[in-house]
Amino acid sequence: MSSRKKTLSAQYYSIGQLRINRWDELKTKTEELSHCNEGSANEIKYRNEVEQLLNDLASVEQYFVIPGKTVIDKLTKSLEKRAYGVLAHIAKNTTRQLINDVYSGSAEDDKESLETDLGHDMQQTSKKNYFEVLVLDNLNSVDETALHQKISELHDPGDQFIYNVIVQRSFQDALITLFFNPNIQAVVIHYAPPYRSTNITPLIRPYIQNVLKFNLEAVPEAQLGPRTGKLINQFRPELDVYYVTDTALGDLKNSTLNTFRRIYYRKEDLQELHLAVIRGIRERYHTPFFSALKEYSQKPTSIFHAMPISRGNSVFKSKWVKDFGDFYGRNMFLAETSSTTGGMDSLLQPTGPLKKAQEMASEAYGSQRTFFVTNGTSTANKIVLQALVEPGDLVLIDRDCHKSHHYGLVLSGAYPVYLDSYPVEKYSIYGAVPLEQILEKLLVLKKAGRLNKVKMLLLTNCTFDGIVYNVQRVMERVLAIKPDMVFLWDEAWFAFAGFTYNYKQRTGMFSANKLYRKYQSETYRKQYLEHVQGLKEGEEPILPDPDKVRIRVYSTQSTHKTLSSFRQGSMIHIWDESFRKKTENTFLEAYMTHTSTSPNYQMLASLDIGRRQVQFEGYEMVERSIELAMVFRAKVNDTPLLSKYFDVLTVQDFIPDEFRDSGLSEFYDPETGWNRLEEAWENDEFMLDPTKITLFIGKTGIDGDTFKNKYLMDQYNIQINKTSRNTVLFMTNIGTTRSSVAYLTKILIKIATQLDEHFNSLNTREREIADARVQSLTLDVPPLPDFSKFHSSFLAVPGVPGGNLRAAYFLAYSEENCEYISMLECKAAVEQGREMVASSFVIPYPPGFPILVPGQVVSKEIISFMLALDVSEIHGYRADLGLRIFRDSVLNRQKTGTAMGAMGQSKKKIKI
Ligand SMILES: Cc1ncc(COP(=O)(O)O)c(C=O)c1O
Repeated sequence: MSSRKKTLSAQYYSIGQLRINRWDELKTKTEELSHCNEGSANEIKYRNEVEQLLNDLASVEQYFVIPGKTVIDKLTKSLEKRAYGVLAHIAKNTTRQLINDVYSGSAEDDKESLETDLGHDMQQTSKKNYFEVLVLDNLNSVDETALHQKISELHDPGDQFIYNVIVQRSFQDALITLFFNPNIQAVVIHYAPPYRSTNITPLIRPYIQNVLKFNLEAVPEAQLGPRTGKLINQFRPELDVYYVTDTALGDLKNSTLNTFRRIYYRKEDLQELHLAVIRGIRERYHTPFFSALKEYSQKPTSIFHAMPISRGNSVFKSKWVKDFGDFYGRNMFLAETSSTTGGMDSLLQPTGPLKKAQEMASEAYGSQRTFFVTNGTSTANKIVLQALVEPGDLVLIDRDCHKSHHYGLVLSGAYPVYLDSYPVEKYSIYGAVPLEQILEKLLVLKKAGRLNKVKMLLLTNCTFDGIVYNVQRVMERVLAIKPDMVFLWDEAWFAFAGFTYNYKQRTGMFSANKLYRKYQSETYRKQYLEHVQGLKEGEEPILPDPDKVRIRVYSTQSTHKTLSSFRQGSMIHIWDESFRKKTENTFLEAYMTHTSTSPNYQMLASLDIGRRQVQFEGYEMVERSIELAMVFRAKVNDTPLLSKYFDVLTVQDFIPDEFRDSGLSEFYDPETGWNRLEEAWENDEFMLDPTKITLFIGKTGIDGDTFKNKYLMDQYNIQINKTSRNTVLFMTNIGTTRSSVAYLTKILIKIATQLDEHFNSLNTREREIADARVQSLTLDVPPLPDFSKFHSSFLAVPGVPGGNLRAAYFLAYSEENCEYISMLECKAAVEQGREMVASSFVIPYPPGFPILVPGQVVSKEIISFMLALDVSEIHGYRADLGLRIFRDSVLNRQKTGTAMGAMGQSKKKIKI
């Protein structure tokens, strides 16, 4: 562990885990207590333990409606009355219901729960769209009871949406409720309860760091409500926030009017507020495109158009393919349409439900504009590149980014300036690009007079392996050098990140919005002036100039990778203050270039429905997927048979010390418990996304690819995505269940047992071979090569970073420009000083990004890496033919071209 700083830790990863654990303990202890003889030593012991547990639970349940304080009071009374049987019964049922998520309304009906005294609540929450409304008001208990009564009278039995109210009496308690309780969908803030909570116990303190870091005690009473409203918009922007005040309309600031969905006056009717709450929920629930598609599919329609499959006509009447129809069901075909009429809309020029659906997505993801994409983020990336960069522009880009970016650069004719991620050699994984390197490259380009050509910085956030950039810091420092830089954050793996605060801070859209507001403020202007005045001679400013800076940020997300959407459903989110002025036309052209004129409507509908889901339950689902990842990490650590063969890689395995100012080195320590992550998420240069769990398997003697295919998939039907030479990557997502994590753990135990048996059965020679294999996977790891360089003939400007990828790519179209050379010959040739240059992309999978791009010099390190690779899939390379490289005549074409040109014979052989 890093010795620099002590990280705050706690016994559980989250309050949810603590809560379940305490209830589970209560169930066990009350059961024991119910068997104790009155007056026995055991009775006293268990009574004390149960009392302590009830105290603990009271400090947590005050933030929940169900089971909430009511059930804790009931249990306390039963304990006082020594009604141990009743106590044990309620504790057992409540625990089961909590574990089965009955309270959130997302579980299947729980028959037994309906028999309990909580049955009515259960029945309501499990049948309807149930949610909770947080009311912040300093009510006495009589008024609180009256409020509950009035609200329940306003509900009609036929209502689709039902809610309960939870009252909090201080601003801190209200904020804590929002962090703890994912059922809250609306907040009503009254003028003006106190700021400070008197209910915070040491037990919950570690879990409320994001609340405790604010101290609004000095804020005047009249401003507390609006300030809290702003904080809620920041932490849980999907919620509807209402303000009930006495402040006269004329005295309300514009920012207050903007913060709240509606503002009410005390004397106004509760019914109005109730109707507004329901309307707000209904609006979010609305899915314009999915609803239009559903409606369309129910209309009787005759098709005299393409698409025989539409309405299932060519399928259900067929003798030979009816099974296809039966498999998918009728609705799939009824909804299969290409019509842009009859209530439907066109993706290429949306004016109706698709336009509305995209606007709602934009609101949900915090962008200014959002575009749906039906061919995955591979296409989204090409659209953004084509829209923003022109031939001859320079793009700073991480070399290990997805291949769609490299192809996008070929198409656009921009010159890439490749950035190298730091290597994590021990595990054959690339990390991410250090900020210092980005700044250095920019300064080199500035010195060479090329800064005006630099257009875009393109980074992958988070990386496949889960390394997350400090997005705000990167943008801030880059904008100080290049104030109009366009940022493309490839968030293919990060669509879920916008729905829980720690992650959200590191998304493109949140950061763009935050920086935009910051640079608009007078406070920043003053800060900038002071900064500039304090600079020494020749020193570069590290803050952007507020008069020059423009916020231009694009994020591309594979919604289908981490949220609910059919495959290929992706989105482009835009926060670009120059969009209208500079980019709208080119963006639409690029969108037309890459978008099918027959987009799949089912996929678009799934993007619409996925948006509804994240707005209602994104927070809860993302938190749960993190928790499951944490539980799995701890399980592998704490189970000796598992840790004998497998290590879950920690933060410090992935991120060098120098990038972790918080000192966070791991999520979980068997001795100290769970480290709190708030500080690391906020400040560290890189953070590791806990839902990406990399398991080091070197000690098994099995390589990543074999482990993935022969063990996990073939034997146990467990699908994973990425491997390296000695690691496999598991991801949890919003669809991961407790039982799937339990299954994975069980299978790993099974594999470890098999390995034990296998190693025990080996004879001496076999053992030596097995040990050598383990040694090779754990210790003899090949170094990871950096991007070498573009050959001088492919440099945009001699001696300055930026390569002409497009020219190299098209020169390779002509077979006579290329030759093949075996890897071994390659090695010898490089050693003898020959300069060889790749003519095509070479993409081994894994890692899945080009280790050679057209025009790149083949270095000794790259050859060694390729020779050491033991993967079966290398795109762009055929072992039987060898590496495809440019002939010397191509590399000398400029010299030859000039000389030949003088003789009037230029451009004869070499084609671009
Ligand atoms: C970083 C990154 N960007 C883009 C993509 C392409 O996304 P899609 O599969 O949605 O086309 C991937 C795919 O794995 C990726 O890893």
